[in-house]
Amino acid sequence: MSTENQFDVLVVGSGASGLNLALEMADFARVAVITKADLHESNTFYAQGGIAAVLDEHDSIESHITDTLNAGAGLCDEDVVRFIVEHGRQSIETLAKYGVEFTTQNDPEGNAEYHLTREGGHSHRRVVHAADATGQAIETTMEQLVRKHENIAVFEHHNAVDLWCERDVHGRTKRVTGLHALNTKTGNIHAFSAPFVVMATGGVSKVYLYTSNPDICTGDGIAMAWRAGCRVANLEFTQFHPTCLYHPKAKSFLVSEAVRGEGGLLKRPDGTRFMDDFDERGELAPRDIVARAIDYEMKRLGADCMYLDISHKGENFIKEHFPMIYAKTTEFGFDMTKEPLPVVPAAHYTCGGIIVDQRGRTDVAGLYAVGEVTYTGLHGANRMASNSLLECFVYSTAAANDIQERLHRAKIDEETLPPATPPWDESKVTGSDEQVVIAHNWEELRHFMWDYVGIVRTDKRLKRAQNRIEMLQAEIIEYYGNAQVNGDLLELRNLAVCADLIIQSAQSRKESRGLHYTLDYPRANDNKGLEPTVLTPKRFPST
Ligand code: FAD
Ligand code: SIN
Repeated sequence: MSTENQFDVLVVGSGASGLNLALEMADFARVAVITKADLHESNTFYAQGGIAAVLDEHDSIESHITDTLNAGAGLCDEDVVRFIVEHGRQSIETLAKYGVEFTTQNDPEGNAEYHLTREGGHSHRRVVHAADATGQAIETTMEQLVRKHENIAVFEHHNAVDLWCERDVHGRTKRVTGLHALNTKTGNIHAFSAPFVVMATGGVSKVYLYTSNPDICTGDGIAMAWRAGCRVANLEFTQFHPTCLYHPKAKSFLVSEAVRGEGGLLKRPDGTRFMDDFDERGELAPRDIVARAIDYEMKRLGADCMYLDISHKGENFIKEHFPMIYAKTTEFGFDMTKEPLPVVPAAHYTCGGIIVDQRGRTDVAGLYAVGEVTYTGLHGANRMASNSLLECFVYSTAAANDIQERLHRAKIDEETLPPATPPWDESKVTGSDEQVVIAHNWEELRHFMWDYVGIVRTDKRLKRAQNRIEMLQAEIIEYYGNAQVNGDLLELRNLAVCADLIIQSAQSRKESRGLHYTLDYPRANDNKGLEPTVLTPKRFPST
């Protein structure tokens, strides 16, 4: 293998968590950022509302912790919540140091301070933002820093296929030593090696037919880590964002929760409000409650959508606070300064994922995971708005610190450095003329996940989904073993693994809690329910 693909750290993914980790490490390590599309393409780029952090003098760490625990419906890990919330200010300071320009306002003395917006579940204004395109401001600022850092090599359009691990005589994983990645421009598969690999690949909302996420969110990191021997947790908790634009060409474009935070009201087609019938916090109840209320009203009335109305705030206010959402909805023929927007829920965030400790370490030695791909314990049964970006920054910094320490030790003891990853073996595969099978299976998977494993579940629906995923997986495994891989096949294979894990997790939770709502067990079971749902792969690693 050529030594040009040998690094100290391989970072898979270039959203907030991957880029922050790369920047935190690059002054003392050779880092490769491997990412499957253009560098900026990520969930992060599309984030709207902002990042939650306690900055207002009337707010407190305890209040942010309490709100997060309440939203998480009894399943958050309180130590982790405290760890993350306490690092809020530091994360914002790091971003400001990178050069991210957040929206400011003048305090009563005329000094500039961050404007803080509000979102569901938060009892204070505590969301730092760059108008309504916070993710774009963060991602593009970090992209510039990464591109000009001499210690960071960027591999765009490189789709990580699988991790490469050293195994013991029984075939059990000892440690990760690298990975293979498909260059989707050339079709070649390259081997990469490093003593540390970081999964920063984001969530798996693309497993659902309707999602606010871009196409890259296919759960690749969760599936790769699972195949390598990592446990996963809480995958039954997919968050459905209540307000995505209802328009055939809008691809579930998100209308930020900050719109409700700044006074937007949810209405039925006849113009009457309904959120007060469901929760005393009205439009600012946590997302699981609002999404379920919209779903309930749509089904009850046989309506295609509900409506989000902020027109009463006036044109100047709306254009100043929501310039991107205003421009985008105008493209689709709406004028939110004068009329309500039609909205529906869509899959938005994966609350569970690869189990990591407070330094981002997974079950496999040398393998770390950060960001939406993980289960840290922060979100419990329902993530509170704008806590995700915060988690990305806190955990990528913690993981970078840990790797730095261990890398230093590994360098002193050269023998612990891993062997090079061997070239990809293509000797047994043939070209395939059945590309249509992949397209068909993609569609089928996303349809049945939406129909049977969506906002409202039942045992019967989950069983149907389980039957279908078993059939699909058998087909995909057979196809994968024989056909030359391409990006679509890799993603389909990973989506199917994740769908299976989501269904298994949902089937094992015999209660309704947070985002997991089932008609067969409509109440929370506080005696048995207060544990995360942990799934363990059959070949559990020995180290
Ligand atoms: P991502 O930003 O999703 O990045 C994943 C990266 O991994 C991408 O670069 C992708 O190409 C790459 N990748 C994936 N698979 C592979 C592979 N096999 N090989 C190589 N590369 C791969 N959260 C908030 O806290 N506040 C908000 O305001 C907010 N708004 C949001 C608005 C929208 C529309 C969406 C979709 C999400 C929003 N979220 C928000 C959630 C938040 O944006 C994400 O949870 C967060 O950005 C995830 O960051 P990440 O670094 O973990 O992953
Ligand atoms: C939004 O702006 O509504 C998204 C915020 C989030 O997902 O945290």
